[in-house]
Amino acid sequence: MLTIKKDLFIIETANTTYAMRLTDHDDIQHLYYGKKLKKEDIKALIPKRELLLVNSLYMAGDVSYGIDDMSFEYSFAHRGDSRPSACILRDGDSEVFDFQFDKIIQHVKLDKMTAASHDSDIDFTIQMKCPDKDIVLRLNFAVFYDSDVITRWVEVVNHSDKNLSIEKLMSNQLDLKGGKYNLITFDGAWARERYKTTKSIQYGTYNAGSLTGMSSPECNPFFIVAKNNCDNMSGECYAFNLVYSGSHKICVHRDTFEGIRIMNGIQDEGLSYTLPPCQSFVSPESVMTYSCKGMNGASLNMHEFVQKNIVAQRQIPVMLNTWEAMYFDMSEDKIKEIVDKAVDMGFESVVIDDGWFGERNDDTTSLGDWFVNKDKFPQGIKGIGDYCRKKGISLGIWFEPEMISVSSKLYSSHPDWALKNNDIRDITGRGQYILDMTKKEVRDYLYDAMSFVIEEGNIGYVKWDFNRRFAEIRGKSGGEYLHNYILGLYELLKRLNDNFPQLVIEGCASGGGRFDLGILCFCPFIWTSDNTNPLSRAYIQEGTSYGYPLSAMLNHVSASPNHQTKRLCDISTRSAVAMQGVFGCQEDITKLDAKEEESIVNAINEYKSLRKYLSFAKIYRLGDGFDENDFVWQIMYNDSEGRLLIYRKRFLPDYINPVIRLYNLDRDALYQIEGAGCKSFKVHGSTLEDYGFVMPQNYMGNNTSDDTTMLLDDTAVVYKLTKINN
Ligand code: GLA
Repeated sequence: MLTIKKDLFIIETANTTYAMRLTDHDDIQHLYYGKKLKKEDIKALIPKRELLLVNSLYMAGDVSYGIDDMSFEYSFAHRGDSRPSACILRDGDSEVFDFQFDKIIQHVKLDKMTAASHDSDIDFTIQMKCPDKDIVLRLNFAVFYDSDVITRWVEVVNHSDKNLSIEKLMSNQLDLKGGKYNLITFDGAWARERYKTTKSIQYGTYNAGSLTGMSSPECNPFFIVAKNNCDNMSGECYAFNLVYSGSHKICVHRDTFEGIRIMNGIQDEGLSYTLPPCQSFVSPESVMTYSCKGMNGASLNMHEFVQKNIVAQRQIPVMLNTWEAMYFDMSEDKIKEIVDKAVDMGFESVVIDDGWFGERNDDTTSLGDWFVNKDKFPQGIKGIGDYCRKKGISLGIWFEPEMISVSSKLYSSHPDWALKNNDIRDITGRGQYILDMTKKEVRDYLYDAMSFVIEEGNIGYVKWDFNRRFAEIRGKSGGEYLHNYILGLYELLKRLNDNFPQLVIEGCASGGGRFDLGILCFCPFIWTSDNTNPLSRAYIQEGTSYGYPLSAMLNHVSASPNHQTKRLCDISTRSAVAMQGVFGCQEDITKLDAKEEESIVNAINEYKSLRKYLSFAKIYRLGDGFDENDFVWQIMYNDSEGRLLIYRKRFLPDYINPVIRLYNLDRDALYQIEGAGCKSFKVHGSTLEDYGFVMPQNYMGNNTSDDTTMLLDDTAVVYKLTKINN
């Protein structure tokens, strides 16, 4: 809801208020973002002051208008604000742009960069203009009332007759006042993506993000700014994300007047985007929420936003992936054997991973040659597709569309399509090169090659991989090229989704290297990490859950010893952790022992019974697995059916099980808890929230019997939580 009261612009969501003010000097001042306030009180928030901070800059003729400590909705370089600015434009030799309020425009369809089917409750734009230049800047807002989410993005329109260079254009700026805050980012690398790291926000500027052309495993675009005393269960915080898969930036600045400026958007290092006359540039969309119910509250809002607005809901099959079962060593006979076993066990899709095409016997060749290897599949992709159809299981297939190997037919015919500069020292990754996705002929080639395979093999599922980052770029500026690349990528993904409406595309980038809201606009879920060891996964999935819902995380049961960490792990723990999201398996199912097979079949059956709720399921972290010995997750499939997963990192003798307080229950309802050594008992939601639940304690380090509940090293147990009628 937007209310305009004279010079005040007030946005309301179910539980929050966001207030702005048009100043006497035509700037847009930020007044407030937080817990819902009474609208009639907003004018009381206007800072009252007649004198200036000594040494501060002010608007000539008005000493009460100090620029250094004013909270702005959007800031511009060279206008007296000594904090980092959100926008730097260059017009010929000048970087001085004096943007002033022009008008508010409501009830218009605003341009967005991505194809997310946003159904916001209200969209509006604050239009700003420079009196001496024909450049328009639109600060766009969309409001998602029930989810307590506001999105912001910026559009620059060049009405002048000269090129305009965009040097920096953040999508969002939030100026907060007072208080001590922490910045929580989700950082890592291959096989340890999205580890939560907390830093106290100190004076000065902290920049994070990615320069790699991808959202990256090093720094996810999702982040939180939280009051010092905020944890998962209580306290105040703000969470942010960006609907974008390319290089991005997170900037947090604390000034000497205890103000905090938070910004996110496209990476500006090397951006220099040329905007020709009569054209406009639309920034990626920034997503933000406020919660006074701890970080679980912020996650809940973000999850709901993603589930309702970003992800197109598609049927998700229970899949068996061949990667760790056979790597490149695949054959039609072996795949058929796997298909037969998969059907018996209840899988719904077999996904043939890397190795089915060209001369691909290892990772040095053939990317780009998207035609089947007849030595491995004598009947072609059609043969295996027909076999799957007869068996009643869907066939999936791996592509790495954006890449090219030098040793490939594609490279022989189109060396110019590769981002490879033979005149200077060559930089490669996994021995491969990126295709120039800004070229229409490249996208057309990929569309034709992929759709041929999809049609021929009756493919219902595509795993879309991306296994190296950028080095070479084309054109005048790196930032401009990388942005146009992402637009090319989105165009191809959209074309495939539009023309194959039944097809499910899985996002993947060396595991979870491109886990972002841009990819989720086209792929309903993403391969969370190549690391499938349950302990590593507990960190990765807990870290990912801060910003992304369960339905976005693809998890597989895999072999023990684990292929990435060599750790051993019991099958029930492997299944329990993989169940917390979109479930699959990449173990060689033709070689399972009876216990493993039984556990995986049970997991498949349980998963199938809950899957209809998965798209809107909620996950709450009941503690902080990054700091504590246990990961504890409360998963609510719907209002009445949930699970509690407790994952113990290390068994400690004489360890007293902690009291686990639950979150967001119906306080007056009765809940039943059962499982893992716990005789079913009933208790009210309020008791589970205010006191909590303690796992039965019948093992302290010796004297075990057969019915002892043992939570030893690297072990997970799952309890069933059911709301019952009073
Ligand atoms: C990446 C993916 C893996 C697998 C391999 C195949 O690493 O993350 O799951 O598909 O590529 O080469």
